[in-house]
Amino acid sequence: MAMIISHSVKETMALGARLGKKLKAGDIVALTGVFGAGKTYFTKGIAKGLGVKNVNKVVSPSFVLGTIHLGKKYKLYHFDTHRLPDATELLNLGFTDCFSDGVCVMEWAERMRGLKAQPNVIVVSFKITGKNKRIIKISGKKI
Ligand SMILES: Nc1ncnc2c1ncn2[C@@H]1O[C@H](COP(=O)(O)OP(=O)(O)OP(=O)(O)O)[C@@H](O)[C@H]1O
Ligand SMILES: [Mg+2]
Repeated sequence: MAMIISHSVKETMALGARLGKKLKAGDIVALTGVFGAGKTYFTKGIAKGLGVKNVNKVVSPSFVLGTIHLGKKYKLYHFDTHRLPDATELLNLGFTDCFSDGVCVMEWAERMRGLKAQPNVIVVSFKITGKNKRIIKISGKKI
């Protein structure tokens, strides 16, 4: 477990990039935290770390369940389950297994009960503590 204080979008993205460089196919990054906590900026960083060329295209998938981006070695599957009535149903279906050829990043992961318990899941939680300040906690040994 690592606890980092980010003071800017830039720092949050740099942290995401650091994690992104270490991720492998089958890894799932579960992002938790309220609106505007920094989950999408962190994901942009992960994309950068995975070698996605245009990270500007990595935005909150608000009107679709997810988007796919091509990294250098692995694909990035970026999901946002916020609008779904019950995201846990997806998990029960074996949803994440379908995307194990790449890296899955899940925004609003708290809405998918049971996800955190999976062995290939890295939980990253965001807490807003000031206008530009975020406390970011990363589980596991990747960082
Ligand atoms: N240290 C920081 N790290 C990340 N974002 C920050 C930071 N300081 C301020 N911000 C601002 O907080 C917001 C974070 O937006 P972002 O889209 O990443 O949040 P989110 O957690 O994905 O929200 P949502 O649940 O709506 O998808 C942006 O407006 C950004 O400018
Ligand atoms: Mg978002």
